[in-house]
Amino acid sequence: MTETLAPDNAGIARAAALLAAGETVAFPTETVYGLGADARDDRAVARIFEAKNRPRFNPLIVHLADAASVAEWCELPPDAARLAASFWPGALTLVLPLRPGSGLSPLVTAGLPTLAVRVPAHRLARDLLQAFGGPVAAPSANPSGRLSPTTADHVRAGLAGRIAAVLDGGPCDVGVESTIVALAPEPSFLRAGGIPAEAIANCLGHPLATPGTTETPTAPGQLASHYAPAGTLRLNATTARDGETLLGFGKIRGDLSLSPSGDLLEAAANLFALLHRLDREGAEHIAVAPIPHEGLGRAINDRLRRAATPRP
Ligand code: TXA
Ligand code: MG
Repeated sequence: MTETLAPDNAGIARAAALLAAGETVAFPTETVYGLGADARDDRAVARIFEAKNRPRFNPLIVHLADAASVAEWCELPPDAARLAASFWPGALTLVLPLRPGSGLSPLVTAGLPTLAVRVPAHRLARDLLQAFGGPVAAPSANPSGRLSPTTADHVRAGLAGRIAAVLDGGPCDVGVESTIVALAPEPSFLRAGGIPAEAIANCLGHPLATPGTTETPTAPGQLASHYAPAGTLRLNATTARDGETLLGFGKIRGDLSLSPSGDLLEAAANLFALLHRLDREGAEHIAVAPIPHEGLGRAINDRLRRAATPRP
């Protein structure tokens, strides 16, 4: 079910073809193995969450073949350009302002206006990104809540049968995830990782704030950023009340539907795009049909619950 691909031209070509077909492929980076999918394809990105059995839609890192292509997907403020020049390709992820209309799946950013990007240094990762020729969304290639994989064996132990293929590049050199630095919406140091905080501070000429230690987490969502629509949201609705727009699922048709056939993969793929659309159309009250609490349904329900929580 899950193909193991050799680290040669044929293996890379096969991996790139599977990505182009909307499948998920695990591949080595210098930090850990990533579970990749075409970042422009909603269903392919939904498959990542499904394979990992991830109970939440956390935003994902987009992997690019070279720093030059970053500008196609996001803005590169001067500090970001300096960090990129110093540490890319390498174990640094930058959170940058997303370019509107970039064409990335909103599932990649979990609907946020920022995008996490990284240009990995691993030869196979770069060859694969080059061969595929597009942006690849990839979290670590492990089932949710388990250790990050640093060999193809780890990947197979956790995800065999749930992903299309793993490109076997042997053990990862760095072995811990990338360091994450945000330049938007606020400059901050989000995750310690392969590049030391001191090296980042040296490059910028000053240290960065670390959310959670310098800020008191009073506002929910400050630490775990998430997108919420402007309108109110009511869950488990079977009919619309006065003034509500009903977002359907399966047999509950609604004004719009997450998935008319009741397919959770399709519902996940549509979720953020439909919420954004309702926002744009000025929907003040949104009601959502019940979503089965299984598989991807748990991640969908997690997002909906957060979006439904009253905001100050
Ligand atoms: O080394 C790595 O970074 C590996 C390899 C595969 O590249 N990837 C990885 O991805 O560790 P993941 O999904 O396990 O961690 C990505 C983290 C998430 O915790 C998420 O919160 C954060 O990046 N992130 C992604 N997009 C973000 C955004 N727009 N704003 C803030 N944080 C973001
Ligand atoms: Mg991870």
